[in-house]
Amino acid sequence: MLAVDLPIDPFEVIATDLYRDGISISHDVIPFDVLRALKFRLAEMNLNDFNQAGIGRNQAHETNQSIRRDKIHWLDAQQSLEKPYLDFMQSLQQYINRRLFMGLFSYECHFAHYQIGDFYKKHMDAFRGKTNRVLTTVLYLNDGWDAELGGELVVYEPNDHNAELLRVTPSFGTLVTFLSDEFPHEVLPALRSRYSIAGWFRVNTSISGEIDPPR
Ligand code: OGA
Ligand code: MN
Repeated sequence: MLAVDLPIDPFEVIATDLYRDGISISHDVIPFDVLRALKFRLAEMNLNDFNQAGIGRNQAHETNQSIRRDKIHWLDAQQSLEKPYLDFMQSLQQYINRRLFMGLFSYECHFAHYQIGDFYKKHMDAFRGKTNRVLTTVLYLNDGWDAELGGELVVYEPNDHNAELLRVTPSFGTLVTFLSDEFPHEVLPALRSRYSIAGWFRVNTSISGEIDPPR
């Protein structure tokens, strides 16, 4: 008889969740040092380090504003406080590829700042066959977030886009991972300023030696 409890590898929990449900929510997977670096980075940035987010090429500003209101800042491995998170995602990528053979090839992510009342209406991050984004990650960076503040991520059923599947409170350290072309989701307005990092793993759809560029 096995007398010791085997330690539960958080990557294994994510992989198992993704295989079974297509979505995973974890509360203690990102190492403390990684979270601390992100917190320091946010503290040193100000409003003009963030740019109005877009929803695709050539989209009218008004259309965009009616769909999403967040402002973003892309992470860069050259930035010492951003690199640990990108490194962490690289290890997650490697684990998922070994475990689920998803063929994840690259990762990109941005900080998102939602000011009071900002939202992101129900959307999909990818449409099958149209983009090479396959796996979405969202990490929340809000200390002491209270459910009454709103700002939840609402996730809908893959087979019924009007049926709510679950809600995530955007609390510090919570990481949501889901298949990008399966789950419609939205960000509800909040009573407080809200920070997250939204990211995407891509597969490589390059042809004839041209590397498919990210973004
Ligand atoms: C996105 C997104 C969710 C969040 O940027 O595509 O859905 O909670 N973000 O920040
Ligand atoms: Mn999204």
